[in-house]
Amino acid sequence: MVRAAVVPRHGGPEVIEIRDDWPDPGAPAAHEVGITVEAAGLNPSDWKIRARGGASELPYVAGREAVGTISATGADVTGFAIGDQVWAYFGWHSRPGGHCERLLVDASAVALRPQSVSVEEAAGVPLAGITAWQALRMLDVPEGGTVVVTAGSGGVGHYAVQIAAALGFEVVATTGPANQDFVGSLGASRVVDYHDETQTLEAVKGASHLLDAFGPATIAAYQQVMAEGGRIVGVAGLPKDVRSDITARAMHAEPVGADMAQLAALMDAGKLRTTLHEVFPLERLAEAHEMLAGGHVRGKIVIRIAP
Ligand SMILES: NC(=O)c1ccc[n+]([C@@H]2O[C@H](COP(=O)([O-])OP(=O)(O)OC[C@H]3O[C@@H](n4cnc5c(N)ncnc54)[C@H](OP(=O)(O)O)[C@@H]3O)[C@@H](O)[C@H]2O)c1
Repeated sequence: MVRAAVVPRHGGPEVIEIRDDWPDPGAPAAHEVGITVEAAGLNPSDWKIRARGGASELPYVAGREAVGTISATGADVTGFAIGDQVWAYFGWHSRPGGHCERLLVDASAVALRPQSVSVEEAAGVPLAGITAWQALRMLDVPEGGTVVVTAGSGGVGHYAVQIAAALGFEVVATTGPANQDFVGSLGASRVVDYHDETQTLEAVKGASHLLDAFGPATIAAYQQVMAEGGRIVGVAGLPKDVRSDITARAMHAEPVGADMAQLAALMDAGKLRTTLHEVFPLERLAEAHEMLAGGHVRGKIVIRIAP
């Protein structure tokens, strides 16, 4: 048996049960590794699926990413050994989820974690970091180009601003009034308050590349003033209508260990860091869900799994 945060049915944060009797996932299949989880990030999909439905099975163990130590390797796994400190984004492809003491996951999603940061700082990265990384790759900003990042203070946005700056792009970002300096410190050369529509539209006017980490409403507003032939990648959905000359694509993070390795290298090079909004013990997961659902987290909420 293992300790896990279990969602037995859809509903409010109070449905979450911290239990000591979840079945141990057992031995890994040939292509899998076992991970003893130390910490795991919390992401909007965790609370949205709990609240709105959409889980592939009930009950399920929450958490779509993890940081921890390799506890077992499948027969065909090369490149990992017991005791390696690793991290992974796995979506729904692990057994069980990341808010659990032990899990099994396909080795292709896993990479060695960065050594220069704490377990909690590393734990913020997998899902939000890989989303920022893959979205920027999909956006295909030309060398030295400018990218607009919306919600630059959130989980995805605060990594996207840093990664874009590390890649040499000029970054224009939106966030609320309390986060202006914070997002500037991440590497954005211009930060605008999304409440000020005039100023925001003026900042976005003529932009050729937009990474949207907020949702269809911001894309719908900002695409109107973008450059002819602009490109948009939305991680939180697209509006129904987008100008016909603009290419707008929705992205969904893919579990790719090689991308996690590149994010680890960026962290160890000092080019990517996690701002921890708060670290919660697993027992207080419901409180963490509630805080994230409020929509104004700066950086990441992380859940400490190991006692
Ligand atoms: N497609 C995928 O694979 C994928 C992966 C990860 C996340 N997502 C989705 O992407 C979205 C962002 O995720 P996240 O983890 O970054 O969320 P988050 O951490 O909860 O984002 C919070 C941030 O959003 C900012 N914000 C709130 N209202 C805003 C507005 N109107 N305009 C601009 N910024 C605003 C807040 O800034 P203030 O506090 O200053 O207001 C806050 O810092 C979510 O919908 C999530 O479900 C999708």
